[in-house]
Amino acid sequence: MNYYVLTLFPEMIENGMNTSIIGRAIAGGYLSLETVNIRDYSLSGNGRIDDYPYGGGAGMVMQAEPICRAYEDLVQRIGKKPRVVYLTPQGRVFDQQMAEKLAREEDLIFLCGHYEGVDERVLEEIVTDHVSIGDYVLTGGELPAMVMMDSIARMVPGVLSNQESGQYESFQDGLLEYPQYSRPEEWRGKQVPPVLLSGHHGNVDRWRRDQSLLRTLRNRPELLARAELDKKDRKYLQSLLDEEEAARDADGTGCVPGNGLTEEEKKFLTKLLAI
Ligand code: ADE
Repeated sequence: MNYYVLTLFPEMIENGMNTSIIGRAIAGGYLSLETVNIRDYSLSGNGRIDDYPYGGGAGMVMQAEPICRAYEDLVQRIGKKPRVVYLTPQGRVFDQQMAEKLAREEDLIFLCGHYEGVDERVLEEIVTDHVSIGDYVLTGGELPAMVMMDSIARMVPGVLSNQESGQYESFQDGLLEYPQYSRPEEWRGKQVPPVLLSGHHGNVDRWRRDQSLLRTLRNRPELLARAELDKKDRKYLQSLLDEEEAARDADGTGCVPGNGLTEEEKKFLTKLLAI
């Protein structure tokens, strides 16, 4: 995978990417990274690349020509026209599926905007994908580009070691990951869940799957609604509701929180399990 980044802050990208696992992958030749400073393509040669917006309003707009020149120079040098990702809060929201698709490309160009925006005409001319990393606004496209490059790189063969690629499986089967524990067995009065010390692989796997289901229910119910659930998964989720009922009966008032499911979680589960 070859990454190219059009930016006003190449050092930010270089510093962020040449570190840790991604840095190792670049050094090992599994990834390449080239940054292009848009400022080097300023019209006046004095480094200025922005101007006032037509129609008025606050802030400055990055001009079309320097960006287009930087892009055309790059395309000519590499001899191909890769997809161009423009980072913008107005784009399609990035997710694991998009990362998987983009990881199949050989080359990717990222265009990082700044100030109030970029002249629309150059976006129409060169951009193939408008992408947002979430519903919040950042000061520029550099961090979003690095977020995308990091998550895409994880799927490029050779970037992760065997051990690393087994980690962070969240989302790959549509559920959030289960909690992890390491030594010591007791830390500040908190015990590691006994099942993890039992050596019974079947029970450990079941406990982890149940924890994944519970976490997804708690934090991202919309993912649970879309996940593939087998008989045992449904049985576990049903047991959460049953425990809730049992706690309610024991008290008789209907006010006991049981295993702590909120009313909303209970409603969600009841509906899900009715399907
Ligand atoms: N630029 C500024 N905010 C952004 C966001 N949330 N995603 C992508 N690019 C951005």
